[in-house]
Amino acid sequence: MEYRNAAIQDINKIQLLQQKYHVSTIRDEDKPHGFVTTLFAENQFKELIEKENGLAIACDGEKVIGYAMAASWQYWSVWPLFQHMINDLPNTTFLNTVLNAENSYQYGPICIDMEYRGTDVLPNLFEFSRLQMKDRYPVLITFINHINNRSYDAHTRKLGLEVIKNFEFNNNHYYELGYDMTKKTKGSNI
Ligand SMILES: CC(C)(COP(=O)(O)OP(=O)(O)OC[C@H]1O[C@@H](n2cnc3c(N)ncnc32)[C@H](O)[C@@H]1OP(=O)(O)O)[C@@H](O)C(=O)NCCC(=O)NCCS
Repeated sequence: MEYRNAAIQDINKIQLLQQKYHVSTIRDEDKPHGFVTTLFAENQFKELIEKENGLAIACDGEKVIGYAMAASWQYWSVWPLFQHMINDLPNTTFLNTVLNAENSYQYGPICIDMEYRGTDVLPNLFEFSRLQMKDRYPVLITFINHINNRSYDAHTRKLGLEVIKNFEFNNNHYYELGYDMTKKTKGSNI
């Protein structure tokens, strides 16, 4: 398995994976095993790669079998849900520090193709993404829908993220979670 930053030529393959597991297009039988909420258009993938160096991918040969996004709050600010989270940063404390757009960034979504789940792709992809951002930010912030039990279990019990608070947006309930960027990812071997 190879872990690397995505290049522009990878966007088509990443888009196919996004479509397979996005909440608006996912198959009913796949939804209990998690879904992604943020939808990226082609120019948003491009900006993520070129300006943020924030699109980590896992590849099995020629196949892109997983991706994990990470970027500054400025990048995310065009999405209303993230605007809500940005506005709330001054009311959010993690590791005894009040958060802001300089001391934290937003990680996620992460998505792994079905046949590679339950393997070391999860910790390795998370670790690869962390390594890209750890010198820029001390704190990772993310959100998970209350109904995405698999992602919640993966991120809290397996990767060690901590729930900071709950919030509601557009009639959905979310956890907001944080991670100390100095911690190497449990279970990773890259
Ligand atoms: C979320 C995701 C990245 C986690 O990676 P993963 O490889 O599936 O994670 P793992 O299987 O190692 O860990 C999940 C744990 O939850 C358990 N689990 C499985 N299905 C579950 C379910 N429906 N509800 C609750 N827990 C579940 C698993 O058994 C596993 O624990 P175990 O290893 O002790 O058995 C992956 O499932 C995924 O890409 N899902 C679709 C997209 C998504 O939800 N992204 C996250 C958006 S916030």
